[in-house]
Amino acid sequence: MSINVLENQMFNPEKAKRKSNGLFLNPEEIFEFHKSIGNNETPLIELPSLAKQLGVGNILIKDDGARFGLKAFKALGASYAMHRIIEKYPEVNTFCTATDGNHGRAVAWMAKKLNRNALIYMPKGTTQERINAIKSEGSEVIVIDKGYDHAVKIANERVLESNNHGDNLWYLIQDTAWDGYEEIPLDIMKGYWTQMHEISNQLNNTKIDLMFLQTGVGSWAASVISYAMSQWKNPPLFVSVEPLSANCVFESIKSQKRITVNNNETTIMAGLDAGTVSTLAWDLLKNSLIGAISMPDSLAEKAMRLLAYPLNKDLHIKAGESGAGGLGALLALSKEKKYTEFKNKISLNENSTILIINTESDTDSKNYNKIINKGRLKF
Ligand SMILES: Cc1ncc(COP(=O)(O)O)c(C=O)c1O
Repeated sequence: MSINVLENQMFNPEKAKRKSNGLFLNPEEIFEFHKSIGNNETPLIELPSLAKQLGVGNILIKDDGARFGLKAFKALGASYAMHRIIEKYPEVNTFCTATDGNHGRAVAWMAKKLNRNALIYMPKGTTQERINAIKSEGSEVIVIDKGYDHAVKIANERVLESNNHGDNLWYLIQDTAWDGYEEIPLDIMKGYWTQMHEISNQLNNTKIDLMFLQTGVGSWAASVISYAMSQWKNPPLFVSVEPLSANCVFESIKSQKRITVNNNETTIMAGLDAGTVSTLAWDLLKNSLIGAISMPDSLAEKAMRLLAYPLNKDLHIKAGESGAGGLGALLALSKEKKYTEFKNKISLNENSTILIINTESDTDSKNYNKIINKGRLKF
């Protein structure tokens, strides 16, 4: 159960708080928008028996597996950003994006709601179930023969080319930012705030000490952090969690600058399979993460089984591969003595209250069932 752990030398909570405050709008307004398109609050679940087993004070899991009936949290971001675009440019006819699955499904779903077209690019290795889920929303899907980063490049080029040649107006709805492309990814990050807004209402003054945040391009983690740092009196500490084969946040923290990693190997944590951190996200993550973790796929599988076969009276949670990433990291840290120094650094101990967000359910149900059929995890 070996993981790589790293302390962040750029950790500067004061700076991170200033940056978060600088981003802030009114989350209530975004929450109300989501309500207007049928959002229902997802549950916040306490797992006291699991906490005892892992030697921590308390574990809370926000279970976003059923968000909008789409099996992942991502529609919170895409829906808000696309709604803003249509408000500004009602003539937009086609939305385009690149995706590992969840974001693309969200864009396709919202395009249908808005009566617009969507074209979705996907990287090689994408499972048929994820392709079908997007097509079932009425969108066209093109699978390319390269990885996620390249799919983003192609989607961007397609929009530029279509707008040069066609009569219809196309718009790129990408959930990652780069120099010169920041407005949409910022709106997507703001859209994710509804999740933390719900958690704030559900917590009832419970103080959270630590959060493990699974990261792909880092937009979601940066959104969660910006909300907590600007809205909560006592924000927790934050640790990023990534697959070993796509650990761009980890390697960027190590190099103290944003770098791209080669993510040609695949991971079952498809939603986290990104080689480059978003510029917007990086600007906040570099000062707000106290540490970074990269971990093997086997740990995500263990965490999925842990949630599928709960201990004692704990509730069952259906977590997909990327959704279970945060718990996978906690599992490794709590079981291995060699991480004591890192655990002290992030104040992980028997009194800690830990918040984890399950960001997806069985988006690849075939793989989910294969993993769960291995049965209850033995300690
Ligand atoms: C289920 C799931 N969790 C977490 C993430 C990570 O979000 P981000 O790419 O913004 O870091 C994704 C991204 O697609 C995802 O699909």
